[in-house]
Amino acid sequence: MTPAATPPPALRPWPLPLWIAHRGAGRLAPENTLAAFRVGAGYGYRAFECDVKLSADGQPFLLHDTTLDRTTSGRGVAGERPWAELARMDAGGWHSRGYAGEPLPHLDAIARFVQRNGYALNLEIKPTPGLEQATGAAVGAACLRLFRQAATPLLFSSFRPEALQGAQGAAPGIPRALLLDRLWPGWLDVARALDCVAVVTDYALMDAPLIAQLRGAGLRALCYTVNDPAEAWRLQALGIDGLITDAVDRFSPHAGSGVFD
Ligand code: G3P
Ligand code: MG
Repeated sequence: MTPAATPPPALRPWPLPLWIAHRGAGRLAPENTLAAFRVGAGYGYRAFECDVKLSADGQPFLLHDTTLDRTTSGRGVAGERPWAELARMDAGGWHSRGYAGEPLPHLDAIARFVQRNGYALNLEIKPTPGLEQATGAAVGAACLRLFRQAATPLLFSSFRPEALQGAQGAAPGIPRALLLDRLWPGWLDVARALDCVAVVTDYALMDAPLIAQLRGAGLRALCYTVNDPAEAWRLQALGIDGLITDAVDRFSPHAGSGVFD
């Protein structure tokens, strides 16, 4: 008699919608600002990805790069500046004249915005190098406070396992996802050890065998940054759980196809 195969772990409930606006609204407005979230919301998006790191005095705020140079009026490593200085910088003028003066948002402001509007949030923990664990722990603690009474979905993600470990220690009940830009050795064991609910990959990595492997481990499958309609169709046909996109003006988050007509 052959032994019965062990069933895969059950998928946990998944509260995020399929379509997630990248950095607020991708490229239509200055990334990772409240203005970008508002533009994404204007296109009907109800879930947002953004990047969070710490100021020198431990305040969580939104910024993608380690340095201020590309997307603000400041220069140098953002994590070396206190929040009082960061809060005075212009995070919109680099994008276009109409957004000049747009501030860097504190995580408190983003939490208020998504909760007041009933939007889901995917917070990518993007630590200043060397501060991975501390950033995860501080963001976890901040979100415990900020989302204590929130009914809106919140998901942490990070490319850095140490950051997810920090978040897990501070806020074990807030779900986590491992971000992958390549399938490095041991990634699935790390996702399991961190008790992740999902893995978020570069869209080019996602295929049927990988989805099957994730399902077999009880994990949800999401992709970034999906801006090409053919890729969006391919991934939906595979049964993808989430698509993070810059193209909020191209993909309707409501229509089944996801493409505006
Ligand atoms: O969280 C998905 C995506 O944002 C990861 O890449 O560099 O755009 O933060 P990046
Ligand atoms: Mg990101």
